[in-house]
Amino acid sequence: MTTIAVIGLGTMGLGIAQCFAQARFDVLATDAHAPTRDSAADRLAQTLAARVKTGKLSATDCAATLARVTVVPDVTVLAQAALAIEAIVERIEAKHDLFAQLEGILPPQAILATNTSSLSVTALARGLARPERVLGLHFFNPAPVMRLVELIPHQGSDPQALALAREWAEAAGKTVITAPDRPGFIVNRCARPFYGEALAMLESGIPAARIDAAMMAAGYRLGPFALIDLIGADINLAATEGLYAAMGGHPRYLPFDPLRAQVASGHLGRKTGAGFVFPAEVVASADPAIVLRIEATLANEALWLLSEGGTTQDGIDTAVKLGLNFPRGPFEMLAQHGAAVIKTTLSDLAAAATDQMKPRYAPAPGL
Ligand SMILES: NC(=O)c1ccc[n+]([C@@H]2O[C@H](COP(=O)([O-])OP(=O)(O)OC[C@H]3O[C@@H](n4cnc5c(N)ncnc54)[C@H](O)[C@@H]3O)[C@@H](O)[C@H]2O)c1
Repeated sequence: MTTIAVIGLGTMGLGIAQCFAQARFDVLATDAHAPTRDSAADRLAQTLAARVKTGKLSATDCAATLARVTVVPDVTVLAQAALAIEAIVERIEAKHDLFAQLEGILPPQAILATNTSSLSVTALARGLARPERVLGLHFFNPAPVMRLVELIPHQGSDPQALALAREWAEAAGKTVITAPDRPGFIVNRCARPFYGEALAMLESGIPAARIDAAMMAAGYRLGPFALIDLIGADINLAATEGLYAAMGGHPRYLPFDPLRAQVASGHLGRKTGAGFVFPAEVVASADPAIVLRIEATLANEALWLLSEGGTTQDGIDTAVKLGLNFPRGPFEMLAQHGAAVIKTTLSDLAAAATDQMKPRYAPAPGL
């Protein structure tokens, strides 16, 4: 039986441990913080008990899943793991040090996977003894619920390591999409215009609730502002700023002023009791111009990403639908509106934009 090691038992690590244990993998789990280690089994038991209560898991499977997770005091006892997934703090030195340490403990063919959201897998692998065994396995939150996993190779990743990581993540019930080692991978990058273009409209005076209502009428479960309220405006701003910096300050990733102002106001969304639209319930109301504006920029961003290589149209569509719960992927949006309409929409937006913002609406090569 394949043993999976999970290092870091916070939000993501515990969820990843649960995914593999439910799929009958043996899981060795650890965290540098003793109270987090000590509480891990109870936290997992609570999550699984909730699934038993709602009839999603039998009591027998719950007990078997818990029995498959062994919390260990530190990484020195992970030697039997075939795959180690780190979900520790988002700092490259910490992740690099951990992988260097794991290389001395795990067998040479073991795979070292990072769950990073924003760091370069290439940079993380650099300087390790066996960089070819390093890859990204990017789970989404909550890991046991979200089906998508982005598999991120770097230039030197061993195809056999990639194939095994894919096989095991698929065995844990995930849909695995290969994503290029570019900032934001697929989902976090392709999501930017959903928020950004909505914020641009808000800045120009269109109410947040009207924008959300339009997107809901077009089949989106949540509008951009309700989604920011769910995630937290502070988290959304941090992700946007990270990508903006990583993409050299390109206006396609601009953190718009209304987002900064929202964070400064302290009304971060659900977690603080108020946000852009929360706690109001937005009711769907059709406004095709709003939808077209957001979908044109979503399709364009996906085309830019496609032009950079390492992914496919289907891969992007699947990742965006599963990772963001969108009703359709950017290439389906492109097909639905037609390239000519998307292009005209972008050129109208460019014409109305300031010189500094015009490049935001430059059509991608494929258009
Ligand atoms: N939270 C999300 O929505 C999300 C989604 C996808 C990916 N990620 C990524 O997953 C990783 C973890 O995020 P999280 O939200 O679970 O964080 P978290 O803060 O909930 O958990 C991180 C855990 O790692 C432990 N830790 C820190 N340094 C360690 C070390 N050197 N060795 C062992 N344990 C260590 C901490 O004690 C903590 O329990 C990050 O890289 C993050 O970018 C997060």
